Amino acid sequence: MSRVYVFDHPLIQHKLTHIRDKNTGTKEFRELVEEVAMLMAYEITRDLPLEEVEIETPVAPAKAKVLAGKKLGLIPILRAGLGMVDGILRLIPAAKVGHIGLYRDPDTLQPVEYYVKLPTDIAERDLIVIDPMLATGGSAAAALAALKKRGARNLKLMCLIAAPEGIARVQEEHPDVDIYAAAVDERLNEKGYIVPGLGDAGDRLFGTK
Ligand code: PRP
Ligand code: URA
Repeated sequence: MSRVYVFDHPLIQHKLTHIRDKNTGTKEFRELVEEVAMLMAYEITRDLPLEEVEIETPVAPAKAKVLAGKKLGLIPILRAGLGMVDGILRLIPAAKVGHIGLYRDPDTLQPVEYYVKLPTDIAERDLIVIDPMLATGGSAAAALAALKKRGARNLKLMCLIAAPEGIARVQEEHPDVDIYAAAVDERLNEKGYIVPGLGDAGDRLFGTK
């Protein structure tokens, strides 16, 4: 069974409140999503392996630690996942980025795949699938399946807001994938929106409607 980690850091919670607020406009929404993604990346990379190197400070030789060069990959689910990429890349600039285009059919709520472009070596990378919203879980489950079909093995799922239904679906279909979220909300409404949620993440990020 995959684990669910909820990041309760005060800065993340404070920024998430402004993201949820319907009076927050596109520019600020975009900036806040990027900032929260960066803070979440700080937490999610907590277990990255380190190795020791020898350096010289201005004062003395020293043994010190650097990242052990683990290969990482970010996989935003289009569109809304794009809003989180730059924030994460600010902390891990060497990560490669693959894209999975999926939209949720508004009537059936089923994910429709329209684009997949991935780094060639995804099987060797630790991959973080990124999407602000985990609602029914259909999009995330389909993205994870698309990645596994192409050889991905080490996967994490990072979202801003998760619904219990989406968590249950990912845990059922992808028990090997841990879920990282800034909040777990109450439920879905009859249109499959997360309650209270933040509304339509793609529309709020890109100013469409
Ligand atoms: C949103 C969101 C997720 C999906 C979540 O995307 O960014 O990808 O819905 O819903 P689910 O868990 O029920 O699948 P949307 O389908 O609105 O596409 P967009 O990002 O292109 O607007
Ligand atoms: N997709 C969104 O953008 N928001 C929701 O609440 C559910 C799915």
